[in-house]
Amino acid sequence: MYMGVDYYPEHWPTNMVDEDISRMKDMGVNMVRIGEFAWHLMESKEGEYEFSFFDEIIQKLKKADIKVMFGTPTATFPAWLAKKYPEILSMDENQNRHVFGGRRQYCYNSEIYAEYSLKIVDALVKHYKDEEAIVSWQIDNEFGHEGSDMCYCPICHSKFQTYLEAKYGTIEHLNEIYGTIFWGQTYNEFDEIPIPLKTITVHNPTLQLDWARFRSASLNGFAKTHTALVKKLRGAHQTVTTNVSGGFFGKWFDHAENVEDMDFVSYDNYPVWGGLKEPLSPAGIAMTLDFNRGLKNKNFWIVEQLIGAQGHDVIGYLPRPNQSKLWSNQAFAHGCNNMLFFRWRGMNRGAEQFCYGILDHDNETGRKYHEAAEIIRGARKIEDVLNTEITAKVAVLYDYDNVWSWRFQRQSSIFDYTDELMRLYRPFHDLNVPMDVIPLDREISKYDVVLIPAQQILDEELSRKLKVFTKNGGSVVMSFRTGIRDRDNNLHFNQPLPAGVNDLFGVKLGEVESLQEGQIVKVDGKGTFKGTYGECRVWRDLLTPVGAETLAEYEDDTSLPKACITRNSYGDGEAYYVGGGLTNNLMRQLVLDITRRKGIPTLQTPEGVEVIIRGENENTKRFVLNHNAFEVYFEGRNLRPFESIIE
Ligand code: GLA
Ligand code: ZN
Repeated sequence: MYMGVDYYPEHWPTNMVDEDISRMKDMGVNMVRIGEFAWHLMESKEGEYEFSFFDEIIQKLKKADIKVMFGTPTATFPAWLAKKYPEILSMDENQNRHVFGGRRQYCYNSEIYAEYSLKIVDALVKHYKDEEAIVSWQIDNEFGHEGSDMCYCPICHSKFQTYLEAKYGTIEHLNEIYGTIFWGQTYNEFDEIPIPLKTITVHNPTLQLDWARFRSASLNGFAKTHTALVKKLRGAHQTVTTNVSGGFFGKWFDHAENVEDMDFVSYDNYPVWGGLKEPLSPAGIAMTLDFNRGLKNKNFWIVEQLIGAQGHDVIGYLPRPNQSKLWSNQAFAHGCNNMLFFRWRGMNRGAEQFCYGILDHDNETGRKYHEAAEIIRGARKIEDVLNTEITAKVAVLYDYDNVWSWRFQRQSSIFDYTDELMRLYRPFHDLNVPMDVIPLDREISKYDVVLIPAQQILDEELSRKLKVFTKNGGSVVMSFRTGIRDRDNNLHFNQPLPAGVNDLFGVKLGEVESLQEGQIVKVDGKGTFKGTYGECRVWRDLLTPVGAETLAEYEDDTSLPKACITRNSYGDGEAYYVGGGLTNNLMRQLVLDITRRKGIPTLQTPEGVEVIIRGENENTKRFVLNHNAFEVYFEGRNLRPFESIIE
């Protein structure tokens, strides 16, 4: 098990390194991550590769028996490269070229950038492939983060047209699928096709989705080329990973594809960042952890665990004493089995002066140092538990085509995909039911329940998969706008909605209504949900049951269809349709109904108290996490603010 820190020795006089290492050892560190932004230090002039600085650092770390994760330095390139080849710099949506400064401003489709970035990585990995202290390579840094997943440059435009020609074959086929007859947009040639830059009104929805797919292919193509090179050159003792940033449903690339060739996933866990006044909710943090575990369906590393307040121009919430420990233990409970803290010491110069680490600028060994040491000690005691596999009986399924389709056409001004996924995830989390968060195309037969939020795009393959799953005894829950589109982002035509699964759910979609900020529709529980009253926001599908039982209805004094939540028996299982953006009390009823039917254990805990049981046989521990800033009485004891107990 590796526990340690993100270390930037190049930021400090080399005479500080020995004392740094000594204090790291005292807190139990056995790994540091270095190098991910140090391209210039290793190639200060084109073609002149120089590793002596890191050679010395690595020897010192080795003497202290501290292992190394080395970051390939392609997220920040030298100024001399940008000066020589400005075309490597990406362009924004106004086709203004980004200037040097900041980071990750390269274009994923630049062949010049590919050439130079592969050369530095080739030289670096060849230099260290036999270095026993280096046990892992991190590819680049937070692919696509901070808006770097998008580029509107001429290279991307031309490659997009090539991508479309390869996909559609003929321009006639593209015109047919796009429906370019609409607004007279029919193309004669592929080189007439624009990238969706600003225009008057809106672009063609299929063009937009293809552009998103192209962005993903561009970024993942770059990542895969680098991953393949490092895997070809590395020593047999060296693993390969990359660090996934937060906000993954707001990115223009498929994350599971990005990491599929890597050995494991690493995640940067920042429950709070920048000017936020409060951290993410416990459920919100938990979902990000389950998402990262789901990328490769295996335990993951955290290579940047928040320990101090963070921000670039605006800093936000100060993590309270024991709160970083709480978040660390929550991560361990959700599948993290190695952890590095960001970062050893906050830098006093450069763009991240306000990204505070374990040591602040006084360089004192303070509260955060001791909290990190405590976390390391605690984790090492349960290493065997943290290396067990997590198995859940409930899975949340997502699909990036669908996420991108919603991003281009939100249909309600307050629609947010992550919010809608959390609408299904949160009530299960609040009852302490373990969940996986995985791509839609994964095998689902091992689960008892699958939750699929706002899945517009539904093709025959998916409807068939869901019918088999339910017929065999599974419970499927889908929410509003299910099955309105095909894989080309076009609306299904000439068939009842939800297309392909109206028989599974036993409903017919009557009418629909987009709800904006402040618009609320009252909802009354029916049948087993009688007596529960809730509200609907964002959207509502007005359903007519065709065999399904109605569990909730819109309070509407019109002749419109009223059904909002329905349950349909299908084979040995049930299909639940949640027709609107419902409040948690109604969703809780749904969870209780499903878990009771499936015999899935639930645990009622006070709000903000999360309980997770992790492990196998004698290697099992129970995590009791109080995410509240106040004391909570639970199971006969008082949990202190932000207290995390592992028992
Ligand atoms: C990200 C990056 C780090 C650093 C931190 C600051 O996670 O990976 O390089 O910028 O944020 O919080
Ligand atoms: Zn570009």
